[in-house]
Amino acid sequence: MDLKQANVLITGGSEGIGLGLASRFLAAGSNVIITGRNAEKLEKAAQKLSGLRTYTNDISNAEQREVLAKYIRGNMPELNILINNAGIQRRVSLASDKASWQERQVEIDTLLSGPVHLNDLLIPLILSNNKQGIIINVTSGGAYIPQVFAPVYSACKAALHSYTMTLRHALANTNCRVVELIPPAVQTSLAGQGSTHGAPLDEFCDEVFPMLTKNGITEVGFGATKALIPELSGQKVEDIFKNSVPRFPVETY
Ligand SMILES: NC(=O)c1ccc[n+]([C@@H]2O[C@H](COP(=O)([O-])OP(=O)(O)OC[C@H]3O[C@@H](n4cnc5c(N)ncnc54)[C@H](OP(=O)(O)O)[C@@H]3O)[C@@H](O)[C@H]2O)c1
Repeated sequence: MDLKQANVLITGGSEGIGLGLASRFLAAGSNVIITGRNAEKLEKAAQKLSGLRTYTNDISNAEQREVLAKYIRGNMPELNILINNAGIQRRVSLASDKASWQERQVEIDTLLSGPVHLNDLLIPLILSNNKQGIIINVTSGGAYIPQVFAPVYSACKAALHSYTMTLRHALANTNCRVVELIPPAVQTSLAGQGSTHGAPLDEFCDEVFPMLTKNGITEVGFGATKALIPELSGQKVEDIFKNSVPRFPVETY
């Protein structure tokens, strides 16, 4: 794929994995728009990366998703790569979560409603361009092996994984491919500012970036998540789950 001709939208690109991928697409000559809720964070990102375009937008809100799609139709009509990356993670145990439903719903809307709705809004545009298209849905190791400390997050990622397989089936007869990016723990702000758990961000982005646009590749893992891609794994999901539970003990009913 000629990345110099690529027009890329990355949701949640003001830091972390989204920004890491944005910098690599820019370096390859692509035209890139990133989104995020916080305008100051977007401004800082744009100052760091020359040519980076930004748009303030909250993907958890249905009306704002419509507004984003309209903005892209008007300002990046040649969109051919959409990366559904924006994410938050609520670290809670099911037994002690006392947050309001409104707060809990935002996690589901960010991680699941966001990508499903935005794809629905933008797939017609991608297909109308008659170029090689790619939709990249960012899931997680937690999509395959539930992380007990992030129960709803893991459930949303599992649903996104399932939806991604169906979307791939739905687009199979078009020139738009569907790729699932499955990060393991990566050192970003997702688990809180200053979190040092996981793979270094640049190491992760350097390895996965070239795989994302390679023909024939549908799932991209890194380190531990490579073993979750079924064709590469001989282990039972239940066994991996049992071994992972003691890593982050949580209160139980
Ligand atoms: N880091 C890991 O260990 C890890 C592991 C597996 C999967 N992932 C997945 O990788 C993706 C990126 O996460 P990250 O680790 O890079 O996290 P991050 O460093 O916290 O970055 C998250 C990005 O999403 C944006 N965002 C959050 N809520 C948003 C919303 N409602 N609308 C628009 N933008 C929103 C944030 O900007 P604002 O705050 O300004 O909105 C930020 O730019 C997520 O889908 C995450 O679940 C990460």
